[in-house]
Amino acid sequence: MTEKRVSLHGMWSSRLVFILAATGSAVGLGNIWKFPYITGLNGGGAFVLVYLICIAIIGIPIMMAEVLLGRRGRRSPINTMMELAREAGSSPRWSWLGWVGVVAGILIMSYYSVIAGWAVAYVLDAADGAFVGFDGDSAGAHFGAMVSNPGTLAFWHAIFTILTVLVVARGVRSGLEQAVKVLMPALFLLLALLMGYAVNTGYFADGLHFLFDPDFSKLTPEGVLTALGHAFFTLSLGMGAIMVYGSYMPKKTSISKTIFTVAIMDTLVALMAGMVIFLIVFANGLQPASGPGLVFVSLPIAFGEMSGGLLFGTLFFVLVVFAAWTSAISLIEPAVAFLVENRGMRRTTAAVLIGAFCWVLGLVTVMSFSSWSFSFEFAGATKTDGMFDVLDILTSTFMLPLGGMAIAIFAGWIMQRADTVDELGVGEGAGYRVWYTLVRYVSPFAVGILILNSLHLLPT
Ligand code: TRP
Repeated sequence: MTEKRVSLHGMWSSRLVFILAATGSAVGLGNIWKFPYITGLNGGGAFVLVYLICIAIIGIPIMMAEVLLGRRGRRSPINTMMELAREAGSSPRWSWLGWVGVVAGILIMSYYSVIAGWAVAYVLDAADGAFVGFDGDSAGAHFGAMVSNPGTLAFWHAIFTILTVLVVARGVRSGLEQAVKVLMPALFLLLALLMGYAVNTGYFADGLHFLFDPDFSKLTPEGVLTALGHAFFTLSLGMGAIMVYGSYMPKKTSISKTIFTVAIMDTLVALMAGMVIFLIVFANGLQPASGPGLVFVSLPIAFGEMSGGLLFGTLFFVLVVFAAWTSAISLIEPAVAFLVENRGMRRTTAAVLIGAFCWVLGLVTVMSFSSWSFSFEFAGATKTDGMFDVLDILTSTFMLPLGGMAIAIFAGWIMQRADTVDELGVGEGAGYRVWYTLVRYVSPFAVGILILNSLHLLPT
Protein backbone atom coordinates (compact mmCIF):
# COMPACT_ATOMS: atom_id res chain seq x y z
CA MET A 1 0.00 0.00 0.00
CA THR A 2 1.15 3.52 -0.64
CA GLU A 3 1.37 5.97 2.21
CA LYS A 4 -1.41 8.51 2.33
CA ARG A 5 -0.27 11.79 0.90
CA VAL A 6 -1.89 15.12 1.49
CA SER A 7 -1.37 18.16 -0.66
CA LEU A 8 0.87 20.88 0.72
CA HIS A 9 -1.19 23.53 -0.99
CA GLY A 10 -4.64 22.81 0.40
CA MET A 11 -7.59 20.97 -1.09
CA TRP A 12 -10.69 21.94 -3.04
CA SER A 13 -13.58 22.11 -0.63
CA SER A 14 -15.91 19.97 -2.75
CA ARG A 15 -16.44 18.17 -6.03
CA LEU A 16 -18.25 21.19 -7.40
CA VAL A 17 -15.26 23.36 -6.70
CA PHE A 18 -12.98 21.03 -8.61
CA ILE A 19 -15.37 21.11 -11.55
CA LEU A 20 -15.48 24.89 -11.38
CA ALA A 21 -11.73 25.26 -11.15
CA ALA A 22 -11.05 22.77 -13.92
CA THR A 23 -13.70 24.38 -16.11
CA GLY A 24 -12.19 27.74 -15.29
CA SER A 25 -8.86 26.44 -16.50
CA ALA A 26 -10.27 24.79 -19.60
CA VAL A 27 -12.63 27.53 -20.74
CA GLY A 28 -10.64 30.53 -21.82
CA LEU A 29 -9.18 32.25 -24.83
CA GLY A 30 -8.86 28.81 -26.37
CA ASN A 31 -12.61 28.58 -26.69
CA ILE A 32 -13.59 32.13 -27.47
CA TRP A 33 -10.60 33.43 -29.42
CA LYS A 34 -8.56 30.51 -30.70
CA PHE A 35 -11.17 27.95 -31.67
CA PRO A 36 -13.08 30.31 -33.99
CA TYR A 37 -9.98 31.68 -35.67
CA ILE A 38 -8.28 28.33 -36.30
CA THR A 39 -11.59 26.91 -37.48
CA GLY A 40 -11.80 29.80 -39.91
CA LEU A 41 -8.23 29.27 -41.10
CA ASN A 42 -8.84 25.56 -41.61
CA GLY A 43 -12.04 25.74 -43.58
CA GLY A 44 -14.69 24.82 -41.00
CA GLY A 45 -16.64 21.55 -40.77
CA ALA A 46 -14.00 18.91 -41.43
CA PHE A 47 -11.61 20.60 -39.03
CA VAL A 48 -14.32 20.81 -36.36
CA LEU A 49 -15.08 17.13 -36.80
CA VAL A 50 -11.44 16.12 -36.36
CA TYR A 51 -11.24 18.37 -33.32
CA LEU A 52 -14.32 16.75 -31.75
CA ILE A 53 -12.93 13.27 -32.41
CA CYS A 54 -9.62 14.28 -30.81
CA ILE A 55 -11.47 15.56 -27.73
CA ALA A 56 -13.46 12.34 -27.41
CA ILE A 57 -10.87 9.64 -27.95
CA ILE A 58 -7.63 11.40 -27.01
CA GLY A 59 -8.45 14.43 -24.87
CA ILE A 60 -10.94 13.01 -22.40
CA PRO A 61 -9.06 9.78 -21.59
CA ILE A 62 -5.77 11.66 -21.18
CA MET A 63 -7.49 14.27 -19.04
CA MET A 64 -8.66 11.49 -16.72
CA ALA A 65 -5.15 10.08 -16.65
CA GLU A 66 -3.64 13.46 -15.84
CA VAL A 67 -6.04 14.10 -12.96
CA LEU A 68 -5.49 10.58 -11.72
CA LEU A 69 -1.71 11.05 -11.60
CA GLY A 70 -2.06 14.38 -9.85
CA ARG A 71 -4.40 13.10 -7.20
CA ARG A 72 -2.25 10.07 -6.53
CA GLY A 73 0.91 12.16 -6.27
CA ARG A 74 -0.50 15.16 -4.41
CA ARG A 75 2.53 17.28 -5.31
CA SER A 76 3.59 19.67 -8.04
CA PRO A 77 3.83 17.76 -11.33
CA ILE A 78 7.61 17.44 -11.11
CA ASN A 79 7.51 15.82 -7.68
CA THR A 80 4.36 13.87 -8.46
CA MET A 81 6.02 12.22 -11.45
CA MET A 82 9.16 11.47 -9.40
CA GLU A 83 7.08 9.92 -6.61
CA LEU A 84 4.80 7.89 -8.81
CA ALA A 85 7.71 6.61 -10.89
CA ARG A 86 9.50 5.51 -7.73
CA GLU A 87 6.34 3.82 -6.51
CA ALA A 88 6.01 1.95 -9.81
CA GLY A 89 9.67 0.93 -9.68
CA SER A 90 10.47 3.06 -12.71
CA SER A 91 13.06 5.75 -13.42
CA PRO A 92 12.99 9.05 -11.51
CA ARG A 93 13.64 10.61 -14.88
CA TRP A 94 9.86 10.70 -15.35
CA SER A 95 10.08 13.96 -13.42
CA TRP A 96 11.23 15.37 -16.75
CA LEU A 97 7.65 15.31 -17.79
CA GLY A 98 6.92 17.77 -15.00
CA TRP A 99 9.79 19.99 -16.13
CA VAL A 100 8.69 20.08 -19.73
CA GLY A 101 5.22 20.97 -18.48
CA VAL A 102 6.53 23.86 -16.41
CA VAL A 103 8.38 25.20 -19.44
CA ALA A 104 5.33 24.76 -21.69
CA GLY A 105 3.13 26.55 -19.16
CA ILE A 106 5.50 29.50 -19.01
CA LEU A 107 5.80 29.70 -22.80
CA ILE A 108 2.03 29.58 -23.24
CA MET A 109 1.48 32.12 -20.48
CA SER A 110 3.87 34.51 -22.22
CA TYR A 111 1.64 34.86 -25.28
CA TYR A 112 -1.66 34.03 -23.62
CA SER A 113 -1.44 37.14 -21.47
CA VAL A 114 -0.69 39.30 -24.50
CA ILE A 115 -3.93 38.17 -26.15
CA ALA A 116 -5.78 38.51 -22.86
CA GLY A 117 -4.40 42.05 -22.81
CA TRP A 118 -6.22 42.70 -26.10
CA ALA A 119 -9.43 41.71 -24.35
CA VAL A 120 -8.68 44.05 -21.44
CA ALA A 121 -8.18 46.90 -23.88
CA TYR A 122 -11.46 46.00 -25.59
CA VAL A 123 -13.36 46.22 -22.30
CA LEU A 124 -12.52 49.90 -22.16
CA ASP A 125 -13.17 50.44 -25.86
CA ALA A 126 -16.57 48.78 -25.57
CA ALA A 127 -17.54 50.83 -22.54
CA ASP A 128 -16.34 53.93 -24.32
CA GLY A 129 -18.69 53.36 -27.25
CA ALA A 130 -15.78 52.95 -29.63
CA PHE A 131 -17.61 50.23 -31.56
CA VAL A 132 -20.68 52.25 -32.47
CA GLY A 133 -21.13 52.35 -36.23
CA PHE A 134 -18.36 49.81 -36.91
CA ASP A 135 -18.34 48.00 -40.22
CA GLY A 136 -15.81 45.40 -41.38
CA ASP A 137 -13.27 48.02 -42.42
CA SER A 138 -13.39 50.26 -39.39
CA ALA A 139 -13.40 47.27 -37.03
CA GLY A 140 -10.36 45.90 -38.82
CA ALA A 141 -8.60 49.23 -38.70
CA HIS A 142 -9.31 49.60 -34.98
CA PHE A 143 -7.83 46.18 -34.28
CA GLY A 144 -4.86 46.83 -36.56
CA ALA A 145 -4.06 50.09 -34.80
CA MET A 146 -4.04 48.36 -31.44
CA VAL A 147 -1.82 45.42 -32.32
CA SER A 148 0.70 47.51 -34.17
CA ASN A 149 1.35 49.54 -31.05
CA PRO A 150 3.82 47.60 -28.89
CA GLY A 151 3.60 50.07 -26.01
CA THR A 152 -0.14 49.58 -25.61
CA LEU A 153 0.14 45.82 -25.91
CA ALA A 154 2.96 45.61 -23.36
CA PHE A 155 0.93 47.72 -20.95
CA TRP A 156 -2.26 45.60 -21.09
CA HIS A 157 -0.15 42.47 -21.07
CA ALA A 158 1.39 43.73 -17.81
CA ILE A 159 -2.03 44.44 -16.29
CA PHE A 160 -3.25 40.96 -17.09
CA THR A 161 -0.08 39.33 -15.80
CA ILE A 162 -0.43 41.23 -12.53
CA LEU A 163 -4.05 40.09 -12.16
CA THR A 164 -2.93 36.50 -12.56
CA VAL A 165 -0.04 36.81 -10.13
CA LEU A 166 -2.37 38.31 -7.52
CA VAL A 167 -4.57 35.21 -7.47
CA VAL A 168 -1.75 32.69 -7.67
CA ALA A 169 0.06 34.44 -4.82
CA ARG A 170 -2.94 33.96 -2.55
CA GLY A 171 -3.20 30.27 -3.40
CA VAL A 172 -5.52 29.00 -6.06
CA ARG A 173 -8.26 28.06 -3.65
CA SER A 174 -9.21 31.32 -2.06
CA GLY A 175 -9.10 33.36 -5.22
CA LEU A 176 -10.52 30.99 -7.71
CA GLU A 177 -13.53 29.35 -6.14
CA GLN A 178 -15.77 32.38 -5.94
CA ALA A 179 -14.68 33.87 -9.24
CA VAL A 180 -15.58 30.81 -11.28
CA LYS A 181 -18.96 30.27 -9.62
CA VAL A 182 -20.23 33.56 -11.01
CA LEU A 183 -18.23 33.61 -14.18
CA MET A 184 -19.26 30.37 -15.83
CA PRO A 185 -23.03 30.86 -15.65
CA ALA A 186 -22.63 34.48 -16.75
CA LEU A 187 -20.54 33.46 -19.74
CA PHE A 188 -23.08 30.86 -20.83
CA LEU A 189 -25.88 33.38 -20.49
CA LEU A 190 -24.16 36.05 -22.47
CA LEU A 191 -23.18 33.62 -25.22
CA ALA A 192 -26.80 32.48 -25.41
CA LEU A 193 -27.89 36.08 -25.72
CA LEU A 194 -25.36 36.78 -28.45
CA MET A 195 -26.54 33.65 -30.18
CA GLY A 196 -30.03 35.09 -30.20
CA TYR A 197 -28.73 38.22 -31.84
CA ALA A 198 -26.56 36.35 -34.32
CA VAL A 199 -29.36 34.02 -35.40
CA ASN A 200 -31.41 37.08 -36.26
CA THR A 201 -28.85 38.16 -38.82
CA GLY A 202 -30.43 35.59 -41.12
CA TYR A 203 -27.23 33.67 -41.74
CA PHE A 204 -27.96 30.78 -39.38
CA ALA A 205 -27.93 28.18 -42.15
CA ASP A 206 -24.57 29.43 -43.45
CA GLY A 207 -23.10 29.26 -39.97
CA LEU A 208 -24.36 25.73 -39.40
CA HIS A 209 -23.11 24.67 -42.79
CA PHE A 210 -19.66 26.16 -42.24
CA LEU A 211 -19.16 24.66 -38.78
CA PHE A 212 -20.86 21.30 -39.06
CA ASP A 213 -20.91 20.26 -42.69
CA PRO A 214 -17.52 18.64 -43.27
CA ASP A 215 -15.83 19.26 -46.57
CA PHE A 216 -12.83 16.98 -46.43
CA SER A 217 -11.20 18.59 -49.42
CA LYS A 218 -10.47 21.52 -47.12
CA LEU A 219 -8.73 19.38 -44.53
CA THR A 220 -4.95 19.69 -44.71
CA PRO A 221 -2.26 17.82 -42.74
CA GLU A 222 -1.67 21.07 -40.92
CA GLY A 223 -5.36 21.23 -40.06
CA VAL A 224 -5.31 17.77 -38.51
CA LEU A 225 -2.29 18.66 -36.40
CA THR A 226 -3.83 21.95 -35.35
CA ALA A 227 -7.03 20.17 -34.34
CA LEU A 228 -5.06 17.66 -32.28
CA GLY A 229 -3.03 20.39 -30.61
CA HIS A 230 -6.12 22.42 -29.90
CA ALA A 231 -7.85 19.49 -28.21
CA PHE A 232 -4.98 19.56 -25.70
CA PHE A 233 -4.87 23.32 -25.48
CA THR A 234 -8.55 23.80 -24.86
CA LEU A 235 -8.73 21.12 -22.16
CA SER A 236 -5.53 22.47 -20.53
CA LEU A 237 -3.86 19.11 -21.03
CA GLY A 238 -0.35 17.86 -21.35
CA MET A 239 1.63 20.25 -19.17
CA GLY A 240 0.57 19.51 -15.61
CA ALA A 241 -2.10 22.18 -15.10
CA ILE A 242 -4.88 19.66 -14.70
CA MET A 243 -2.46 17.42 -12.80
CA VAL A 244 -1.88 20.14 -10.24
CA TYR A 245 -5.62 20.73 -9.95
CA GLY A 246 -6.11 16.99 -9.56
CA SER A 247 -3.62 17.02 -6.70
CA TYR A 248 -6.02 19.25 -4.76
CA MET A 249 -8.98 16.97 -5.49
CA PRO A 250 -10.63 15.08 -2.63
CA LYS A 251 -10.14 11.33 -2.83
CA LYS A 252 -13.82 10.39 -2.93
CA THR A 253 -14.68 12.54 -5.94
CA SER A 254 -15.35 10.60 -9.16
CA ILE A 255 -12.71 11.49 -11.74
CA SER A 256 -14.65 10.22 -14.73
CA LYS A 257 -17.89 12.08 -14.00
CA THR A 258 -16.17 15.36 -13.26
CA ILE A 259 -13.95 15.18 -16.32
CA PHE A 260 -16.90 14.46 -18.61
CA THR A 261 -18.69 17.47 -17.19
CA VAL A 262 -15.69 19.71 -17.72
CA ALA A 263 -15.02 18.50 -21.26
CA ILE A 264 -18.65 18.90 -22.29
CA MET A 265 -18.88 22.42 -20.92
CA ASP A 266 -15.63 23.35 -22.60
CA THR A 267 -16.79 22.01 -25.96
CA LEU A 268 -20.15 23.73 -25.66
CA VAL A 269 -18.59 27.10 -25.01
CA ALA A 270 -16.30 26.69 -28.01
CA LEU A 271 -19.12 25.67 -30.35
CA MET A 272 -21.36 28.47 -29.12
CA ALA A 273 -18.62 31.04 -29.54
CA GLY A 274 -17.90 29.62 -32.99
CA MET A 275 -21.53 29.88 -34.05
CA VAL A 276 -21.91 33.44 -32.83
CA ILE A 277 -18.73 34.58 -34.48
CA PHE A 278 -19.26 32.94 -37.86
CA LEU A 279 -22.81 34.22 -38.10
CA ILE A 280 -21.51 37.72 -37.59
CA VAL A 281 -18.64 37.07 -39.99
CA PHE A 282 -21.01 35.96 -42.77
CA ALA A 283 -23.58 38.65 -42.07
CA ASN A 284 -20.91 41.32 -42.46
CA GLY A 285 -18.97 39.92 -45.37
CA LEU A 286 -15.84 39.29 -43.29
CA GLN A 287 -13.25 36.62 -44.11
CA PRO A 288 -13.45 33.49 -41.90
CA ALA A 289 -9.74 32.97 -42.50
CA SER A 290 -8.55 36.27 -41.12
CA GLY A 291 -6.46 34.84 -38.30
CA PRO A 292 -5.99 35.84 -34.64
CA GLY A 293 -7.94 39.10 -35.06
CA LEU A 294 -11.18 37.32 -36.05
CA VAL A 295 -13.02 37.66 -32.73
CA PHE A 296 -11.74 41.16 -32.13
CA VAL A 297 -12.95 42.33 -35.50
CA SER A 298 -16.26 40.49 -35.83
CA LEU A 299 -17.84 40.94 -32.41
CA PRO A 300 -17.34 44.71 -32.13
CA ILE A 301 -19.38 45.13 -35.32
CA ALA A 302 -22.24 43.31 -33.64
CA PHE A 303 -21.91 45.25 -30.40
CA GLY A 304 -21.76 48.51 -32.30
CA GLU A 305 -25.02 47.72 -33.99
CA MET A 306 -27.26 45.93 -31.51
CA SER A 307 -29.38 47.73 -28.96
CA GLY A 308 -27.74 47.59 -25.55
CA GLY A 309 -24.47 46.94 -27.36
CA LEU A 310 -22.53 49.18 -25.03
CA LEU A 311 -23.55 47.15 -22.03
CA PHE A 312 -23.34 43.73 -23.66
CA GLY A 313 -20.06 44.51 -25.37
CA THR A 314 -18.47 45.65 -22.16
CA LEU A 315 -19.85 42.70 -20.27
CA PHE A 316 -18.71 40.28 -22.93
CA PHE A 317 -15.10 41.42 -22.92
CA VAL A 318 -15.12 41.50 -19.12
CA LEU A 319 -16.17 37.85 -19.21
CA VAL A 320 -13.47 37.02 -21.76
CA VAL A 321 -10.91 38.59 -19.45
CA PHE A 322 -12.26 36.57 -16.53
CA ALA A 323 -12.25 33.38 -18.54
CA ALA A 324 -8.66 34.02 -19.60
CA TRP A 325 -7.73 34.87 -16.04
CA THR A 326 -8.99 31.61 -14.56
CA SER A 327 -7.05 29.79 -17.28
CA ALA A 328 -3.83 31.72 -16.87
CA ILE A 329 -3.77 30.87 -13.19
CA SER A 330 -3.46 27.21 -14.09
CA LEU A 331 -0.68 27.91 -16.58
CA ILE A 332 1.73 29.15 -13.94
CA GLU A 333 0.47 27.14 -10.96
CA PRO A 334 2.73 24.13 -11.68
CA ALA A 335 5.84 26.34 -11.74
CA VAL A 336 4.81 28.17 -8.59
CA ALA A 337 3.90 24.97 -6.73
CA PHE A 338 7.32 23.62 -7.63
CA LEU A 339 9.23 26.67 -6.36
CA VAL A 340 7.25 26.52 -3.11
CA GLU A 341 7.92 22.81 -2.59
CA ASN A 342 11.49 22.50 -3.72
CA ARG A 343 13.00 25.89 -3.15
CA GLY A 344 11.04 26.69 0.01
CA MET A 345 9.96 29.96 -1.57
CA ARG A 346 6.96 31.89 -0.32
CA ARG A 347 4.01 31.64 -2.70
CA THR A 348 4.05 35.37 -3.25
CA THR A 349 7.72 35.47 -4.17
CA ALA A 350 7.36 32.51 -6.48
CA ALA A 351 4.29 33.94 -8.21
CA VAL A 352 5.91 37.36 -8.74
CA LEU A 353 9.07 35.78 -10.06
CA ILE A 354 7.29 33.59 -12.60
CA GLY A 355 4.93 36.41 -13.56
CA ALA A 356 7.79 38.80 -14.23
CA PHE A 357 9.59 36.21 -16.30
CA CYS A 358 6.48 35.51 -18.39
CA TRP A 359 5.92 39.21 -18.93
CA VAL A 360 9.42 39.73 -20.32
CA LEU A 361 9.10 36.67 -22.52
CA GLY A 362 5.73 37.97 -23.69
CA LEU A 363 7.41 40.96 -25.27
CA VAL A 364 8.43 38.60 -28.06
CA THR A 365 4.75 38.10 -28.85
CA VAL A 366 4.02 41.79 -28.43
CA MET A 367 6.54 42.54 -31.17
CA SER A 368 5.25 39.75 -33.41
CA PHE A 369 2.32 41.85 -34.53
CA SER A 370 4.41 44.83 -35.56
CA SER A 371 8.09 45.32 -36.24
CA TRP A 372 9.22 41.72 -35.70
CA SER A 373 6.56 40.14 -37.83
CA PHE A 374 7.68 37.61 -40.40
CA SER A 375 6.03 34.78 -42.23
CA PHE A 376 7.05 31.17 -42.67
CA GLU A 377 5.76 27.87 -43.94
CA PHE A 378 4.57 25.18 -41.58
CA ALA A 379 3.19 21.85 -42.76
CA GLY A 380 2.14 23.43 -46.00
CA ALA A 381 0.45 26.48 -44.47
CA THR A 382 1.74 30.03 -44.42
CA LYS A 383 2.05 31.60 -40.99
CA THR A 384 2.22 35.35 -40.88
CA ASP A 385 2.60 36.30 -37.23
CA GLY A 386 6.22 35.40 -36.71
CA MET A 387 7.27 34.41 -33.23
CA PHE A 388 3.71 34.27 -31.99
CA ASP A 389 3.01 31.49 -34.46
CA VAL A 390 6.31 29.80 -33.63
CA LEU A 391 5.48 29.74 -29.91
CA ASP A 392 1.95 28.59 -30.58
CA ILE A 393 3.07 25.74 -32.84
CA LEU A 394 5.89 24.72 -30.52
CA THR A 395 3.59 24.52 -27.50
CA SER A 396 0.16 23.47 -28.81
CA THR A 397 1.26 21.29 -31.68
CA PHE A 398 4.27 19.62 -30.13
CA MET A 399 4.79 20.08 -26.41
CA LEU A 400 1.21 19.51 -25.24
CA PRO A 401 0.45 16.44 -27.39
CA LEU A 402 3.83 14.89 -26.54
CA GLY A 403 3.32 15.69 -22.85
CA GLY A 404 -0.12 14.13 -23.06
CA MET A 405 1.28 11.09 -24.81
CA ALA A 406 3.82 10.63 -22.00
CA ILE A 407 1.04 10.94 -19.43
CA ALA A 408 -0.97 8.29 -21.27
CA ILE A 409 2.05 5.99 -21.46
CA PHE A 410 2.71 6.46 -17.77
CA ALA A 411 -0.88 5.73 -16.76
CA GLY A 412 -1.27 2.89 -19.24
CA TRP A 413 2.08 1.13 -19.07
CA ILE A 414 4.16 2.26 -16.09
CA MET A 415 1.70 2.53 -13.24
CA GLN A 416 0.33 -0.59 -11.62
CA ARG A 417 -3.01 -1.33 -13.19
CA ALA A 418 -4.45 -1.93 -9.72
CA ASP A 419 -3.44 1.59 -8.69
CA THR A 420 -5.27 3.13 -11.61
CA VAL A 421 -8.35 1.05 -10.80
CA ASP A 422 -8.16 2.21 -7.20
CA GLU A 423 -7.75 5.86 -8.13
CA LEU A 424 -10.46 6.00 -10.80
CA GLY A 425 -12.80 4.26 -8.41
CA VAL A 426 -15.29 2.93 -10.95
CA GLY A 427 -14.42 -0.74 -10.52
CA GLU A 428 -13.11 -2.81 -13.40
CA GLY A 429 -16.22 -2.84 -15.55
CA ALA A 430 -16.67 -1.83 -19.15
CA GLY A 431 -16.15 1.87 -18.42
CA TYR A 432 -12.76 1.22 -16.92
CA ARG A 433 -11.72 -1.08 -19.74
CA VAL A 434 -12.66 1.46 -22.40
CA TRP A 435 -10.59 4.09 -20.63
CA TYR A 436 -7.67 1.73 -20.13
CA THR A 437 -7.64 0.70 -23.77
CA LEU A 438 -7.79 4.31 -24.88
CA VAL A 439 -4.88 5.51 -22.72
CA ARG A 440 -2.83 2.39 -23.19
CA TYR A 441 -3.16 1.98 -26.94
CA VAL A 442 -5.27 4.48 -28.76
CA SER A 443 -4.17 7.89 -27.51
CA PRO A 444 -0.39 7.37 -27.44
CA PHE A 445 -0.39 5.81 -30.89
CA ALA A 446 -2.72 8.37 -32.37
CA VAL A 447 -0.59 11.23 -31.10
CA GLY A 448 2.61 9.47 -32.13
CA ILE A 449 1.44 8.82 -35.66
CA LEU A 450 0.11 12.32 -36.16
CA ILE A 451 3.30 13.94 -34.90
CA LEU A 452 5.60 11.62 -36.83
CA ASN A 453 3.57 12.20 -39.92
CA SER A 454 4.03 15.93 -39.51
CA LEU A 455 7.81 15.81 -39.31
CA HIS A 456 8.33 15.42 -43.02
CA LEU A 457 6.08 18.41 -43.56
CA LEU A 458 8.39 20.71 -41.62
CA PRO A 459 10.42 23.19 -43.64
CA THR A 460 13.79 21.72 -44.49
N1 TRP B 1 -7.41 25.81 -21.77
C1 TRP B 1 -7.20 27.22 -21.74
C2 TRP B 1 -7.97 27.85 -22.88
O1 TRP B 1 -8.62 27.20 -23.62
C3 TRP B 1 -5.74 27.58 -21.80
C4 TRP B 1 -4.93 26.85 -20.79
C5 TRP B 1 -4.98 26.98 -19.46
C6 TRP B 1 -4.00 25.83 -21.05
N2 TRP B 1 -4.12 26.08 -18.86
C7 TRP B 1 -3.54 25.38 -19.82
C8 TRP B 1 -3.55 25.28 -22.22
C9 TRP B 1 -2.62 24.34 -19.77
C10 TRP B 1 -2.63 24.25 -22.17
C11 TRP B 1 -2.18 23.78 -20.96
O2 TRP B 1 -7.93 29.03 -23.04
